[in-house]
Amino acid sequence: MRRLLIAGNWKMNNTPSETLEYGRDLKARGLNDLLPEMLLFPPALSIPALQKALENTPVKTGGQNIHQEPKGAFTGEISAKMLADAGCDYVLIGHSERRQYFGETDESVRSKIVRARETGLKQVVCIGETLDEREKGITSHVIIRQLKEGLLDFTGEDLKDMVLAYEPVWAIGTGRTATPEQAQEVHALIRKTLYDTFGSAFSENIRILYGGSANTSNAESLLSEQDIDGLLIGGASLKPGDFFEIITTAHKLMKKG
Ligand code: PGA
Repeated sequence: MRRLLIAGNWKMNNTPSETLEYGRDLKARGLNDLLPEMLLFPPALSIPALQKALENTPVKTGGQNIHQEPKGAFTGEISAKMLADAGCDYVLIGHSERRQYFGETDESVRSKIVRARETGLKQVVCIGETLDEREKGITSHVIIRQLKEGLLDFTGEDLKDMVLAYEPVWAIGTGRTATPEQAQEVHALIRKTLYDTFGSAFSENIRILYGGSANTSNAESLLSEQDIDGLLIGGASLKPGDFFEIITTAHKLMKKG
């Protein structure tokens, strides 16, 4: 039975009051029996508003980033412990916008996984190639490097609460989605790499999400691919109606099994 996970990354959108409105709208649509787990990553300040609005639903909240140190003189930063104490279940690590605009690397991804684990936060770790890398034909090389370096020195047991998200950078916010076949090819490569490193139980159980211009029109075909276990949705998660429609699509596919 596949355990599909639908997650929304709001990026720098939705104030606390807009979040309350969004949460009430989403809850009113009736979320309870659709998927065992759904997930939203609001901006940090809007997390309490979302939790309040979505109380008694299976929607979990996560932070979009944490600092790689546990605490200290890092003005403007947020620690893993703060997110955990605020009631978050998850944290997003290594999103391509963090890599591109804030200098994050496979090494900082690794430190952030350590911090998240110390506080019990589950991790959604993002990987993906740029357009230039795809055009040069080095997608596999980049994906394997990000996996090997980002997850270096961890055991499968260490990573049991990790979800991976394959997000080709050229598909993020561009309206240019990877075709289901292109996405499946990379998802299969990711699963195979994890199999080689951590064995079959780990590689079969891990959830690998696709992200990059996922929306109501392409969700079903992406989710129908064998190795795509869910979606990480940016733009389309900002409208509660669209996010809900994608959740119901996943629900129907889960029922089919
Ligand atoms: P997008 O963003 O759906 O707007 O392309 C996805 C993401 O960045 O997680």
